[in-house]
Amino acid sequence: MSKTPSISFSAEMPAENGVLVLFTNAAKTLGAQAAALNAEERLTKAMDAAEFKAGLAKSLSLVTPQGTDYDRIVLIGTGKKPLTEFDFLKLGGAAMTAVGAAKMATVLFDMPAPEEGGVATTVKNTSDFAQGMTLASYRFTKYKTSKKGDDEDQDPKDKDEKKAAAKITIVTPDAEAASSLWDAQRGVANGVMLARDLVNEPANVLTPKEFAKRAKKLEKLGCDVEILDEKDMKKLKMATLLGVSRGSRNPPRMAIIHWNGGKKGEQPVAFVGKGVTFDTGGISLKPAGGMEDMKGDMGGAAAVTGLMHALAARKAKANVIGVIALVENMPDGDAQRPGDIVTSMSGQTVEVLNTDAEGRLILADALWHTKEAFAPKFMVNLATLTGAILVALGNHHAGLFSNDDDLSEQITTAGLATQEKVWRMPLGPEYDKMIDSKNADMKNIGGRFAGSITAGQFLKRFVGDTPWAHLDVAGTAMGSPQNEISKSWASGFGVRLLDRLVADNYEG
Ligand code: BES
Ligand code: MN
Ligand code: ZN
Repeated sequence: MSKTPSISFSAEMPAENGVLVLFTNAAKTLGAQAAALNAEERLTKAMDAAEFKAGLAKSLSLVTPQGTDYDRIVLIGTGKKPLTEFDFLKLGGAAMTAVGAAKMATVLFDMPAPEEGGVATTVKNTSDFAQGMTLASYRFTKYKTSKKGDDEDQDPKDKDEKKAAAKITIVTPDAEAASSLWDAQRGVANGVMLARDLVNEPANVLTPKEFAKRAKKLEKLGCDVEILDEKDMKKLKMATLLGVSRGSRNPPRMAIIHWNGGKKGEQPVAFVGKGVTFDTGGISLKPAGGMEDMKGDMGGAAAVTGLMHALAARKAKANVIGVIALVENMPDGDAQRPGDIVTSMSGQTVEVLNTDAEGRLILADALWHTKEAFAPKFMVNLATLTGAILVALGNHHAGLFSNDDDLSEQITTAGLATQEKVWRMPLGPEYDKMIDSKNADMKNIGGRFAGSITAGQFLKRFVGDTPWAHLDVAGTAMGSPQNEISKSWASGFGVRLLDRLVADNYEG
């Protein structure tokens, strides 16, 4: 992870200069405090000269502005419409991008007053802004050596990544309240960045064993983490999971992360993640082009790990279990073959017609085990499960499949609030039939059509009566377009969404 800025809150303007960030709405009205800097006229003139329209999260940078000691003044537009909760993350992201590599920045968190077409901001808005700044600052720079950072020909943006973290002061009258809210909420930002780090990490480094080791680190935050190895999983008869793993030199793991922040003995909620650290397709080998992206086939497990980090860091008042199934899918002399029949932990048999439909095989055992061992209130699994979900929804929504309308509703609502959006897809007996097999209870592929739905139907056969939702994040966990708060190939999708699901519905 790159160095993230150190953010503090203050009721007073700091003495040092550096970069000053101000806000302006589309009518080019500044906040009262910004107006009191006596630069309003010049700033308005500059905005006109630059044809700056102050659209939401657009920015204008003025270098060494006359009459001030600042190196730069950055104007951030707040647009024309009332600001939503998520808009404050966007504003933070835009501010961070505009501040760039500067060492010192002051954000005057002061919007034009409501009677001047502005908004009255809350402490939550201030913390969300800090969240946006932090998330936008994330880069995956671990493998860029400092020697390369000195290279004259290197993209200056890459060079910036090596510089020390910026010191940012957010000036707000509610400095103390904002500071204590941010202390909790930064845990969520760190959870998102943990998920991004895991997804960005290459598969030669992030093996199932290494992933489990990183999950184990959550014990520092007060989680209990149990690691199952191959022997443990054999004992539990997790044969659909082990069938996927057998072609790899890297042995499988399952990490079970417990966060007990709720009432003692209260039934937990559970999150389950697909963690294929690399998916070659196995004997049903994938084509070479773009195969490198399959280092991210553990995006579901990364989101669950990041979520557990977030919940523990902000001491969520809920009992939560995170289960991540970690395997590598490789072709090998000992790999599983198309046509093999395996018996899942549930006792149901599966004919493996395509070894590249491996995610559902590992989740079958992970979901069943979670249900049996912990009897959770609900299970939500996240998985980069099908290319077909990209065909259906692109990069903008995760597919939601569920046997429970209330849970679906809660997830959809959390998705709108966090802008980690989901779209519910159908399940039904007609689709279920498509995975019946002539040689076993079911087959692991359903034919050419409705590929994401038949994958969902497959998972549904392993959840019993437990309320359950499956999020297909193949289009959203990685390779999604960059936006104000994500400049990274790995987005960390799911952490903010599910943190919100828990916060709004299952705490206290
Ligand atoms: N990991 C892939 C799905 C995937 C595709 C994730 C693109 C991210 C981006 C999954 O294991 C897979 O290979 N699915 C197959 C299923 C098919 C064999 C039924 C697919 O989508 O082609
Ligand atoms: Mn696959
Ligand atoms: Zn896969």
